[in-house]
Amino acid sequence: MRVVGGCMISLAPIAAVRKPSFRHSFPPSKTLIPSLPVQRFSKFSTSASMASPDSPPPPPEPQQPKKPWLVVGLGNPGKKFNGTRHNVGFELVDSIAEAEGISVTSVSFKSLLGKGYIGDVPIILTKPQTFMNCSGESVGAIVSYYKIPLKQVLVIYDDLDLPFAKMRLLPKGGHGGHNGMRSIIDHFKGSREFPRLRIGIGRPPGKMDAVNFVLRPFTRQERDELNFTFQDGVEAIRILLLEGFNKSATFVNSAKPLKQLG
Ligand SMILES: *[C@@H]1O[C@H](CO)[C@@H](O)[C@H](O)[C@H]1NC(C)=O
Ligand SMILES: *[C@@H]1O[C@H](CO)[C@@H](O)[C@H](O)[C@H]1NC(C)=O
Ligand SMILES: *[C@@H]1O[C@H](CO)[C@@H](O)[C@H](O)[C@H]1NC(C)=O
Ligand SMILES: *[C@@H]1O[C@H](CO)[C@@H](O)[C@H](O)[C@H]1NC(C)=O
Repeated sequence: MRVVGGCMISLAPIAAVRKPSFRHSFPPSKTLIPSLPVQRFSKFSTSASMASPDSPPPPPEPQQPKKPWLVVGLGNPGKKFNGTRHNVGFELVDSIAEAEGISVTSVSFKSLLGKGYIGDVPIILTKPQTFMNCSGESVGAIVSYYKIPLKQVLVIYDDLDLPFAKMRLLPKGGHGGHNGMRSIIDHFKGSREFPRLRIGIGRPPGKMDAVNFVLRPFTRQERDELNFTFQDGVEAIRILLLEGFNKSATFVNSAKPLKQLG
């Protein structure tokens, strides 16, 4: 174990990187690069030499594969942190994975990762295994490898300042004191221009400090309430990919609190 920039570099088990084996696969990153004109026309070279110069063959429609959305859930790895408030991002990613039939089990980029589609939109789901403070190492590497535009990177994380079980979808913003977000913004060279879905986890009771509170599990009753939040979260991701950011933001941000629903 080494410590680099405050981030622990563990050589096992994540470093024993298996070759990613994806149940679903969409075109590899290089096909996401617009093909050069010379490549597009090259297959016409034989016929072009026979055609008259006045009637060149029509260029083929460039088929641009859609760029994937990257949906990141934040949390800490290991049994010790399973089910804690700080891991609520992991849990929503698990719910999305289950609902969409995507298996998030590949180990790559210091992350658990899975690929699939919602409709015809490719999606990568990921849970960084770096520990919270170093999430950006993993997310930064995935974003550069797949050349994902930051406006298609959604980070899901716990928020102490939102009422419990409430969600908020915003197109950009600061880290709000969240160490995982801090790390991601660092690895995006300071850019805050990427969407995020915050999930309210409640406030520490009495004089308990925030660090202790976020590392505690939810109560039984909170779990039941969260179940509805996760269902809405799954729906929010569907709307985001199929109908766009604004529609999804309207769905999430105008949702009535559970209390008002009776
Ligand atoms: C976390 O707990 C759930 C059940 O509450 C279990 O299904 C899951 O495998 C656990 N994950 C880890 C990493 O221990
Ligand atoms: C994470 O970062 C915070 C703030 O930078 C620091 O106080 C804390 O000790 C770090 N935690 C770990 C586990 O490295
Ligand atoms: C959560 O909701 C789903 C769908 O309504 C239900 O099948 C499941 O049992 C619920 N889980 C809990 C822990 O309440
Ligand atoms: C989304 O909403 C923002 C501000 O509310 C607006 O500026 C933008 O044009 C909208 N985008 C689309 C695609 O409607």
